[in-house]
Amino acid sequence: MSKILVTGGTGYIGSHTVVELINEGFEVVIVDNLSNSNIEVLNGIEKITGIRPDFENIDCVDYVALDRMFEKYRDIEAIIHFAASKAVGESVDKPLLYYRNNLVSLINLLQLMPIHKIKNIVFSSSCTVYGQPDILPVTEEAPIKVALSPYGNTKQIGEEIIRDTINANPFYSSIILRYFNPIGAHPTAEIGELPNGVPNNLLPFVTQTAIGLRKQLQVFGNDYNTPDGSCIRDYIHVVDLAKAHVIAVRRLLDNESGKQIETFNLGTGRGLSVLEIIRSFEKVTHVKVPYKIVGRRVGDIEKVWADPAFANNILGWTASETVEETLRSAWQWEKNLAKRTKSE
Ligand code: UD1
Repeated sequence: MSKILVTGGTGYIGSHTVVELINEGFEVVIVDNLSNSNIEVLNGIEKITGIRPDFENIDCVDYVALDRMFEKYRDIEAIIHFAASKAVGESVDKPLLYYRNNLVSLINLLQLMPIHKIKNIVFSSSCTVYGQPDILPVTEEAPIKVALSPYGNTKQIGEEIIRDTINANPFYSSIILRYFNPIGAHPTAEIGELPNGVPNNLLPFVTQTAIGLRKQLQVFGNDYNTPDGSCIRDYIHVVDLAKAHVIAVRRLLDNESGKQIETFNLGTGRGLSVLEIIRSFEKVTHVKVPYKIVGRRVGDIEKVWADPAFANNILGWTASETVEETLRSAWQWEKNLAKRTKSE
């Protein structure tokens, strides 16, 4: 079976993707610098799959270390490149850190691929490239808007770097995946989202508030032009998202499309407001989430959800989990984490 390099493979989406790859019989090498993840994630992956993937503690910004890694694992056939910094607010304070981490790592991989005869790369992009779309649901054809943060800009520039590289050299093939809002955890609750410090994202804040780690959730704004006034997003189960990566990798390996580059939205096609998420979470878990409406968060988009038809039709992939099941999995994971912390 083919060997796949997963950069950022101990991270949130990365670890779930590693599990799905192993389940489908792929061999996996993880490269991660553990800057925003924990080595124990490997135990979770092993518990679920019975296999411990190869792991290299490498920062993808380090060209020489990456080159050595490719020398060691000579039979890598495709790369899924997750490794990146992703905190929107932090990127505003530390733009150069974000440009360096997210762009130099991508450039290194693209430079090393032909040297090591690797043609295929799947790139983690984001719906952030659409900004506030004029038409909803948003399709892949929607115009790219001026980025609202250095983080968002690194995703736009990353896509352009791949496009320009392929234009100059048809050796490469790439699939760009634009994620909407991944939430939830593996149904075994052995792996999930592990935010460092105070969570920036909605779901970890909801589960941490529900379990009592945080006093109160702040809902950023109820005066948006939406039915209940809070922002709307397309929340997708992280396992559904992970499965799309397996399909994308297979498509590249089999050269199914005959195209050098393709871009897909990965979302459910369903928009939910912050208040709807809170209500659904409470209904599913029977746990109250204390919250307070506060002012808008700078840089937030009012509403965005995907038109996933292209991914549905071309990849034969659909986000099939219900939001209830997804929220339940996030809660199971939070409870499992609490148990582990207690027993330590
Ligand atoms: C953002 C980016 C996304 C990026 C992700 C990485 C946009 C449109 N999206 O997602 O590309 O991959 O960050 O972290 O730029 N909320 C609260 N209270 C909280 C936290 C969040 O009300 O404590 C609200 C937000 O205002 C927003 C929704 O919950 O309406 C989702 O927020 P979040 O989980 O941070 O994701 P995005 O901002 O959509």
